[in-house]
Amino acid sequence: MAKVIAIDGPSGSGKSSTSRRVADRLGFLHVDSGALYRIMTWQCLARGVDTTDPAAVAACAESVGVECRPEGGAIAYYVEGEAPGNRIRTPEINAHASHVATVKAVRDRVTAILRGMTAQGDLVVEGRDITTAVFPDSPARFYLTASAEARALRRQREEVAKGIANQSAEAVKASLLARDAIDSTRKYAPLKKADGALEIDSTELTLDQVVETVLAALPPDWKK
Ligand code: DC
Repeated sequence: MAKVIAIDGPSGSGKSSTSRRVADRLGFLHVDSGALYRIMTWQCLARGVDTTDPAAVAACAESVGVECRPEGGAIAYYVEGEAPGNRIRTPEINAHASHVATVKAVRDRVTAILRGMTAQGDLVVEGRDITTAVFPDSPARFYLTASAEARALRRQREEVAKGIANQSAEAVKASLLARDAIDSTRKYAPLKKADGALEIDSTELTLDQVVETVLAALPPDWKK
């Protein structure tokens, strides 16, 4: 059976960098589950769907074909043969993704896609409901947090470095807190710390320290 390391947390908590590094160290595949919600959002917007209309969002999400293939140590996604790239990382997608992620049909579809990936190998999966709903039985579950200021600063620097946007840290913080509120209060699979998950506050920690904390907490026979 495939081993799954599950990592949840709000935006900017360090999930992506940590998951990528942990996957790299262990030779597991890195899985960005948020990208699947972003792809669904991108496709809704491209087709003119109102993202606050759950029935319309569900119908659109069901028709999106997503191909998932292992590539360079991660699961890469393709929609109609094309990699979405930074088109799913814009402030517009940020603003709509939380709404799309509240729709049960979308969550069910993404959950099924994620569970199916265990056929591809051992995984490090990051998201909001991985420890609570997608892989709640994994013996390696983590909840990453950081202060809102630290998270906003990280995201803002990332947007500038990748040339995605040039928003102020304040604007990034406002958008991030708005998304946190929707993600943690929604009806289906809200973001919360799972019972039994190890909480790591990364505000004052380096990436290396967070990675080492995760590796140290894994079942002994999972480590290389
Ligand atoms: O991690 P991210 O910012 O790329 O996530 C994009 C959106 O998808 C965000 O609003 C939270 C949502 N999401 C979710 O509901 N469940 C997941 N497992 C991952 C992301």
